[in-house]
Formats: sequence, C-alpha cells, structure tokens
Amino acid sequence: MSELVQKLRENQNLTDEEFKVILSCVDYDEELKQNADAVRREHYGNKVYIRGLIEFTNYCKNNCYYCGIRRDNRNLSRYRLTEEEILECCREGYELGFRTFVLQGGEDPYFTDKVVCSIVAEIHKNYPDCAITLSIGEKSYESYLAYFQAGAERYLLRHETANPEHYGKLHPSEMSCQNRQRCLFDLKKIGYQVGAGIMVGSPHQTLDNMIEDLRFLQKLQPQMIGIGPFLSHQDTPFRDEQNGTLELTLRLLSVLRLLFPKVLLPATTALGTVHPLGREKGLQAGANVIMPNLSPTSVRKKYMLYDNKICTGDESAQCRQCTELRVSGIGYEVVTDRGDAKDFAK
Ligand code: SAM
Ligand code: FES
Repeated sequence: MSELVQKLRENQNLTDEEFKVILSCVDYDEELKQNADAVRREHYGNKVYIRGLIEFTNYCKNNCYYCGIRRDNRNLSRYRLTEEEILECCREGYELGFRTFVLQGGEDPYFTDKVVCSIVAEIHKNYPDCAITLSIGEKSYESYLAYFQAGAERYLLRHETANPEHYGKLHPSEMSCQNRQRCLFDLKKIGYQVGAGIMVGSPHQTLDNMIEDLRFLQKLQPQMIGIGPFLSHQDTPFRDEQNGTLELTLRLLSVLRLLFPKVLLPATTALGTVHPLGREKGLQAGANVIMPNLSPTSVRKKYMLYDNKICTGDESAQCRQCTELRVSGIGYEVVTDRGDAKDFAK
C-alpha cells in the first residue's frame, strides 16, 4: 500500500500538503477505494441504510446562485405539501420499510416553527420507531430547539464551503458562512445528529477550499456528511458553469470514509445524476446510505435543484425497489432499521 493511503487509514489524518497530493492525483483512487470499503465493512459490514426523502416545499426565500429552486427562478411552478400529504408519504414509506424520514425543503416562511413542530410531532406520534430528520435551512437556536423537543433528532445542513470568500461567490451577500456554521454548532449543542457537507466542483472551488472543508469537518465532527457533485441548472446564474465530476466526488467519499470511519455517508442523487451507476460507485467508494425519494410523483419535477435530476418520474415503491436491486446487485444489503450514527451519545 502506498505510504500516503496507509497513513490516512491509520492516523485518520494527513497534512495539508499530503491532502493536496491525494486529492489531486488519480493514482491513489483504486487504493483509496479499496481501503475505504474495508474500513466501512469494519464498522458497518455490507449494510446500506435507507432514508425516505420527502421534498415538501420548493418555495425558498434564499437566492443561492447554484440552486434551481432559488427565489428568483420564475420558470418554476411552486408547491407545498399539506400536513396530510406529508403524513401520507410517511405512511407509504413506513410500509416500504423506511424507518427514517427526511423532510427537506427550501426556506419557506409558510412553514413557521409552529407548523413545523406540529408536523414533526404528528409523525413522531404515528411512527415512534422512526427517526425524523429535518433539512430546512438556517434557523435560530430557539427554533432548532423547538423542533428537537417536538421529536426531530437529526438535521442536515451542508456547510457548502468553509471558506468565507468562496461562500461569498456561491451566495448573495445576505447569507454568510459564519451563520451557516453557527447553525451547525447550535444543532450539535442541542443534541441533534448533524449532517454537514459540500458540493464537489462547485464554481470557484479550489483544492485549498476542499482542504479547509476537511479541517472544518474535523472540528465539527458531524455524524453525517453529504457530498455530491455540483450540477448546473439552466435557470440560475451558474447555468454555464462546469459540473463537478464523478471521479473527484468518489475520491472525496473515500477520503471522508478514511478520515471519519464511522460517519454516515450517502451516495447522493446528484452522484446518480452525473453517472448512471454513480450511486453504486459511491457505495463501493465508502458510502453507506441511500436516500430514495418518497415525494408524491406529481411534485417531483418541481424540486429540480439541477438539470436532469434522476428519479423524478417514479413512484415511491419503484424507487424503493430500484434501490434494493442496485444495492444487492453490487453485493451490499439494504437494511430497514433507523440506522443511527455509531457511538452517538444521546
Ligand atoms: N434549504 C435547505 C438548505 O439550505 O440546507 C435544504 C434544501 S437545499 C436545496 C439542499 C442542498 O442541495 C444544498 O445544501 C446544496 O448543497 C444542494 N444543491 C442545491 N443546488 C445544487 C446543484 N445545482 N447541484 C448540486 N447540489 C445542489
Ligand atoms: Fe433555497 Fe436552494 S436557494 S433551497
């Protein structure tokens, strides 16, 4: 084994210079992948956890330059699911074996804390054996606390980039890197299992930025890390920007598995969009989570974060079955338990 990969696996760390080498060079990819898979098997065997994703609103008050559902996109028909529709997604998901529901949406002022808490509490009451994950953006400490007390236990909020200058190139000035990071530390303090992450190959991203992201993740110590390639959307300011690549995303997944052996690492929809076998390759490179879509088919095309997003025409049952086939096809096994982070002290 090369010294660099061995050092990363044994020490769960490298110097900035060493990270630079490993992240910019194709030569280590095969070895990184094999070691990442071995480490993932040490902790999780061949298990793949599934999370049912419910995209419940595409209204957003933010205007992130990369995002297809940003406020200024007028070519988009907007929707919100009702509480009943969300519960119906959960009912269907429960029957399909999901024990985690991820409620994701734009930052939609219609969903006040009171409304969010009522939805979370209702899901919690009906499905006490399930984990509820929220992914609804930047809120105050008090709001996060209220959702937690209502029954939400996990929160996904990608930090997007740890570098303030880079952050400023991806977001309008009313948004800040500092507030995003404040949110993540607040969530941890409250007791959530937290997911951070980035888009790989986002416009203006440098290798140094990615190393800063790794250092930020080391500081935060999240239970989950969501990464996927940046993919352009035709109705955003980044319509002409280059997409992130499969190769770099897989390389980073493997590095993350070696840096954070027990982390929950999804093979994302964006990875499946950039390559037909992207999610399978992601699992083989160290990922251990898949998030099939549970949103009603009628709204899926409207939650178009980037062009050509996959799985927008399928019923939930089809997505579930497709996941099963893809995962078992490469020798892993879908498990239907809650799949909490290992060693997470509640
Ligand atoms: N509003 C919530 C938030 O800000 O965290 C959740 C929804 S937001 C659409 C979820 C994630 O989608 C973002 O954190 C971002 O990384 C990702 N995303 C948005 N646009 C994307 C694009 N064009 N390509 C790849 N990922 C994208
Ligand atoms: Fe709000 Fe993308 S700009 S979810």
